[in-house]
Amino acid sequence: MINLQRFKNRKALITGAAGGIGSALVKALKKEGALVAITDLDTSNVDADANFDGDLQNSQFCDELPLLANDKLNGLDILCNVAGVITRGNINEVTDEEYNLTMKVNVEAPFRLCRASIPIMKKGSAIVNVSSCWGLRSGPNHPLYTMSKAAIASLTQSLGLDHAHQGIRVNAVCPNEVNTSMIRSGFEVRGLNPDKAIEELNKTIPLGRIAEPEDIVDVILFLLSNESRYMCGSIVEVNGAKPVV
Ligand SMILES: NC(=O)c1ccc[n+]([C@@H]2O[C@H](COP(=O)([O-])OP(=O)(O)OC[C@H]3O[C@@H](n4cnc5c(N)ncnc54)[C@H](O)[C@@H]3O)[C@@H](O)[C@H]2O)c1
Repeated sequence: MINLQRFKNRKALITGAAGGIGSALVKALKKEGALVAITDLDTSNVDADANFDGDLQNSQFCDELPLLANDKLNGLDILCNVAGVITRGNINEVTDEEYNLTMKVNVEAPFRLCRASIPIMKKGSAIVNVSSCWGLRSGPNHPLYTMSKAAIASLTQSLGLDHAHQGIRVNAVCPNEVNTSMIRSGFEVRGLNPDKAIEELNKTIPLGRIAEPEDIVDVILFLLSNESRYMCGSIVEVNGAKPVV
């Protein structure tokens, strides 16, 4: 990871901060001088400047969170919507509850957080949403996940277009497979040893391995930084050259 101070005194709100990508992002932003407010279901193991534990299925929580972070940090320049759930199964296997959970966490929460953040963000602010390669081209048997990730990619393009004139840049990163609990839990459900399964998966990636959280975080940091100042509404794939199917 590059050792810079690109985010000195910038104020950031990060969702999914206890997860694989989120916790690595919080660490990296703090290392580069940002003040960071975080949220997840339980953030007790994550070091930050303001911790707001809560469930992103709660609409009121999402509507209020950017204001709470803004009050606590005395400003808000950065929002990263990292939290997400993966719902597995074809359309006849998934339930209404799974539909509601997926759309609430992966789509409605980022929508609400962007809507509440943009009015308090100044020129030079940046939002990065975490979509997925699977939101751009569907992989098999995950229709809920893929449609939700397509929705957040589309939201990113719309907001990038609508708020560029305010100097607020909105971009998205689309990973393929990343070595976090999200992918490891899938192997466990299928009765596989996650380490062994990842070894096999590594062979399918042209660059030789699936991503580590830091591989994704470095691209998020770039999209948040002034180095990407002319990018707005962009959807950036970070996939080790692996096609979706
Ligand atoms: N791991 C991958 O292979 C991969 C690939 C493409 C995209 N992504 C995306 O990257 C993002 C981060 O995922 P990750 O790989 O770090 O997985 P992760 O499971 O480690 O992290 C996801 C985090 O979201 C939080 N979260 C889930 N539901 C929540 C809720 N209702 N309220 C509050 N927080 C909630 C979880 O507690 C968890 O900490 C997700 O949006 C995911 O869809 C991951």
